[in-house]
Amino acid sequence: MNPKCLIIKKKLRSFNKKINVEGDKSLSIRWLLLSSQAIGVSRATNLLKSEDVYSAIKCLKKLGVNIKFFKNNCYLEGLGINGFKFKKNLVLDAGNSGTVGRLILPLLIKSPYKIKIIGDKSLSKRDFSRVTEPLSRIGVKFFPSKKKNLPIYLLGTDYLRPINYFENRGSAQCKTCIMLASLNTPGEMRILAKKSRNHTELMFKALKIPINIKNVNKLDFIKTSTPKKIDKFNLNIPGDISSSAFFIVLTLLSKNSKIILKHINLNPSRLGIIKILNKMGAGIKLKNVINYNGENCGDIHVKSVKNFKSINCPSYLNSSAIDEFLIIFLVAAKAKGISYFKHLSELNQKESPRLKLGSKILNMMGIKTKLTKSSIKIYGNPSLELNKNYQIKNYFKDHRIMALCTIAALTLGGNWKIYDPESIKTSFPSFLKILKNTLGAKIN
Ligand code: S3P
Repeated sequence: MNPKCLIIKKKLRSFNKKINVEGDKSLSIRWLLLSSQAIGVSRATNLLKSEDVYSAIKCLKKLGVNIKFFKNNCYLEGLGINGFKFKKNLVLDAGNSGTVGRLILPLLIKSPYKIKIIGDKSLSKRDFSRVTEPLSRIGVKFFPSKKKNLPIYLLGTDYLRPINYFENRGSAQCKTCIMLASLNTPGEMRILAKKSRNHTELMFKALKIPINIKNVNKLDFIKTSTPKKIDKFNLNIPGDISSSAFFIVLTLLSKNSKIILKHINLNPSRLGIIKILNKMGAGIKLKNVINYNGENCGDIHVKSVKNFKSINCPSYLNSSAIDEFLIIFLVAAKAKGISYFKHLSELNQKESPRLKLGSKILNMMGIKTKLTKSSIKIYGNPSLELNKNYQIKNYFKDHRIMALCTIAALTLGGNWKIYDPESIKTSFPSFLKILKNTLGAKIN
């Protein structure tokens, strides 16, 4: 039986290791959704086997898609654009995943039946109007019509029209939702988007789906239109930089340690963590970088660092580090001086209100913070060592809160009880196994 609570009482000893982390979550979910629209059997190697990815698989299976695993490969028999097979009264459960919940909708916009979309407690608190509003302009109906949260019902139509859409949050999910809607919508979809991860754009190009991208005043002006068909496609999915982030900071904050994270996705739109930590003095190096299907992949080399500088984090880096801020805050807690992170209201829209909770956890560790709705100042303490009892209830069951606290315990000390460690399975099921079996962490 898996423990309901992790107990950590000892810091991690020095280590010098090479590790692999599991496949990238964004790429895994996008491959599943897009290959379901292709014709023929597509194959993904190293698809992430996490709860969020299983939510995508379960939704697709309910839509008639055949998906099988054999060794490290996943095989998916695509049904073509608008080829899903399902009956009335369909319910799709996106679980904990905003990406699945928001990116499955545009594939259903021709549905002749109402489809109910549900999610877990955390997902049901998150804002879906950011995607239902533009989809409604395309012609899709949602019930109840003004409802912001799941559960909601979607009813598709054959009378879809392309829209001009301004994506002003830096949200890849919103941008991707409208790009995927263009698979079924005649005419040209025009999206003016703040910079955010561009995996969908790269997959569209690799799949020869019509797409044109221009840079307009630091924004991306993306035009997409309907392809005749999508051919099956194989993808080897590199490791997830968001999962790597925890091992990067673990190494930086441990004494006399080194790590090499092998074959990680190094798409420039995901490298915010490396840029921010290097500005703080981390000296992280990227080596053996190759380009594969448009995506950069390579190894991340990290060594322990004694002194960190504080940072006034430039907000142009926000979207490229959006899932990594919690663990970056831990480095800021050990840095000399006051660090400032701003224009981050999106962080409170994640699986939990991460800006607020991150601040609370730092306060619990004796670190002073100044918090507003969209910013945080962290008053770093380079000699920070913990020696008290710390209990983390993790009410929101947020995987990244769980991993943050585990890394804090293993690098700063103290007696920790971390509840709901199961939450890590949404994105990084092998997290504890790597810590215990490869790095020798004492975790009960
Ligand atoms: C994701 C985009 C980000 C990120 C999420 C995955 C994606 O969300 O936080 O974990 O795969 O497109 P937003 O696009 O809403 O910022």
